[in-house]
Amino acid sequence: MNLRIPGPTPMPPEVLEAISHQTISHRGGAYEELQRRVIENLKVFFQTKNDIYLLTCSGTGGFEFSVSNFFSPGDKILSFTCGEFGKRWADCARAFHADVIETKFEIGTAINPDTFKKVLSEHPDAKGIFVTHNETAVGVLNPVGKLAGSVKLHPNHPLFCVDAVSSLGGVNLEMALGIDVLFTGSQKAWMAPAGLCMASVSPKAWDFYSSSKNPKYYFDISSYKKFNEKNQTPATPAISALFGLDKSLELMLKIGKERVFSHHMEMKNYTREKLKENGFSLFVEDEFASPTLTSIKLPDGNDGSAWTREMKEKYGVVVAGGMGEAKGKIIRIAHMGYAVGKEEMDEAIEALKEIASDK
Ligand SMILES: Cc1ncc(COP(=O)(O)O)c(C=O)c1O
Repeated sequence: MNLRIPGPTPMPPEVLEAISHQTISHRGGAYEELQRRVIENLKVFFQTKNDIYLLTCSGTGGFEFSVSNFFSPGDKILSFTCGEFGKRWADCARAFHADVIETKFEIGTAINPDTFKKVLSEHPDAKGIFVTHNETAVGVLNPVGKLAGSVKLHPNHPLFCVDAVSSLGGVNLEMALGIDVLFTGSQKAWMAPAGLCMASVSPKAWDFYSSSKNPKYYFDISSYKKFNEKNQTPATPAISALFGLDKSLELMLKIGKERVFSHHMEMKNYTREKLKENGFSLFVEDEFASPTLTSIKLPDGNDGSAWTREMKEKYGVVVAGGMGEAKGKIIRIAHMGYAVGKEEMDEAIEALKEIASDK
């Protein structure tokens, strides 16, 4: 099968071998060395000196980690959404009784920096700003660097929280730009098993932690910090997933982070050009397009689920349909993880062509 969904992504053979290792005690020296190395190597891709925490959960855990640790009921959170994952994060904040002001952008477009700036100026009492770096539901990359500039000028010094679940490890994003809370998922560009959410926070986030009144237990960052000091986690970590992540980080560092990032850009350009050449309409304009996945607009009257079923059953290519408002209207093909190459994309595009010719 050619697995082309936007995560979980296929794992390179070396990673598959690494995860078949017998398990080890999470309270022993071998584990501590593994965790120390993984965190050290993750810092290269997070582009930060801040500590990194290994949460045993999927990316959604990053939503709860950020909301529960740093905020209190009634806090004003400005959420900027351009798809389903941004919306879910806003829902999580509402579940913790935050006062969420959601600014929605039309699906297929990115967060507009001018609108962002204007909304920030209208809410001088904002405590948190939530932005999804790569909106996987549609394949849009948001201009986090530009947005960070506006956050820095805000009089209330809100916490800038960024979901980079489906971009970090494949796309250049410096935490040092002014991001306070940043998290990602092991099953995405990291080409590791699902089960880990890797998160980092700024010193400013710790000030917010001190005054936070939200209930917290499993994701309480102070227990992660305490255990990080001895290279352990408070509860049993996803050890096999960590074996995989350790290996994929070794492979990624061997190639070099710049090359990993440029490979994703090349795959994006290649896929988009090839789809256009073959008469497909892309759902997202070039300027907003994601380096890790591409969405194709289906011709009106076509049923997205019929396309994805046929892709899988007839051609062995597993792709994703749309989510939320884009459900049934688009097909998403991922080029996430440096191990995917032109061959896999060609195979997926050939299958799409065959299906289109039958319609
Ligand atoms: C941008 C983004 N945020 C959050 C999530 C949720 O992650 P998970 O499904 O691992 O809980 C995803 C999953 O695809 C995502 O792409």
